[in-house]
Amino acid sequence: VKAKKAVAEKACGYVKDGMVVGLGTGSTAELAIKRLGELDLDIQGIPSSVRTEGLARSVGIDIVPWKEFLEKKPRIDLDIDGADRVDPDWNLIKGGGGAHTREKIVANASRLFYCIVDDSKLVKKLAGSFPIAVEVRPDSVDSVKRELAGYGASKLRMRDQKVFITDNSNYILDFSLSVGEPVERLEVDINEIPGVVDNGLFTRRKPDRVFVGYPDGRVDTL
Ligand code: 5RP
Repeated sequence: VKAKKAVAEKACGYVKDGMVVGLGTGSTAELAIKRLGELDLDIQGIPSSVRTEGLARSVGIDIVPWKEFLEKKPRIDLDIDGADRVDPDWNLIKGGGGAHTREKIVANASRLFYCIVDDSKLVKKLAGSFPIAVEVRPDSVDSVKRELAGYGASKLRMRDQKVFITDNSNYILDFSLSVGEPVERLEVDINEIPGVVDNGLFTRRKPDRVFVGYPDGRVDTL
């Protein structure tokens, strides 16, 4: 927790009055949102999930609701979000929380994207390090699963013995990457499978900075 808190606070140090701020999803992003609440800045937040929206509102951050954001597409000054894995080229795996589709939309609309992670997230290679989340239309689960089999086995994400449903009313297939295809190509190839909404690889919109936290509270800025 110390590591996550340290990076969250570090990234929040870049947020200034008047900014439009992308709010990530997950335990690390949540620490940043709480910190922004404490800082009591005059900002507008763009939440990347329903959960994040609720938390941001509860700590007093002025929120642009998702639909309004999509309609008006204001430019976001800075997006602060976590990740499940980060490779040496700053390619990311996200989607452990199932929010990667909106998170990618927010990151893409942001002038700056600061990624906040603890040191356990750093890996030499993304392949095999963490399941890749693929958001799928519910009617396409079986066909996408068959297509994904060429890359590795996939599993429908469950929560409390029920199918996990995303904020966009879709399902998630988590697949373990077993082939050595470059992740940059894979991100695009998976999204070309009919029925796929988006996947948790972030290789196009990479972070502009990665803040890495350590258990003693030290932070490295990459
Ligand atoms: C959610 C995400 C999160 O950023 C990722 O899962 C990291 O979460 P945490 O900070 O809890 O480790 O991509 O979809």
